[in-house]
Amino acid sequence: MSKTIESILARTSEPRLTTPAPGPDVLEEVFACAARAPDHALLRPWRYLVIEGEGLTALGEVFARIADADDPLMPTVEKLQQMPRRAPMIIVGITCHQSHPKVPAIEESISTGCGMAYMLLALQARGFAGMWRTGPVAYHEAVREGLGLAPNERIAGFLYVGTPATHKPALERPDPASFVSRWPS
Ligand SMILES: Cc1cc2nc3c(=O)[nH]c(=O)nc-3n(C[C@H](O)[C@H](O)[C@H](O)COP(=O)(O)O)c2cc1C
Repeated sequence: MSKTIESILARTSEPRLTTPAPGPDVLEEVFACAARAPDHALLRPWRYLVIEGEGLTALGEVFARIADADDPLMPTVEKLQQMPRRAPMIIVGITCHQSHPKVPAIEESISTGCGMAYMLLALQARGFAGMWRTGPVAYHEAVREGLGLAPNERIAGFLYVGTPATHKPALERPDPASFVSRWPS
């Protein structure tokens, strides 16, 4: 089996992450992989923020701004504040929408998602791990503002990144026969 296929078939998210986070050399490789995302019209419609250390505390304060006691689905202030502490590093994936006449906005989001998936693979190849998370913090205006996003930018997700503290139980993966068919049949 090819090394690439082996590494894709071994990919798994890890929710329990600890130090160390990847250093500059690994991050450079990881972002070089992100830059290989398929990209209609070569718009480069993505950018990334790397947050660690005290930045995670500051991010928790930004998350806490969206607390809403009237919304039963919204996490509490304390939970929002603590969320970024689930990993020693967070990489925020941001889609920079560019209103290209031939490239619908969804294609820019998909391109960001491809880059983020490559990043997860690259992290794992270097002995680290990650987990892509969104939830209400990814879609709230207050978080976009707190992170300094421009009006045309949207959060594609937060990659929680670090070294696996424990490995989660293996997930059963769907059999391709259950989601692939020929057309016309
Ligand atoms: C766009 C996106 C958003 C996600 N948001 C969350 C999330 O907020 N919380 C969560 O537990 N998993 C979230 N996930 C799923 C996990 O990242 C992970 O893929 C899932 O637990 C399955 O594990 P696996 O990656 O090992 O297959 C999200 C995945 C994607 C693609």
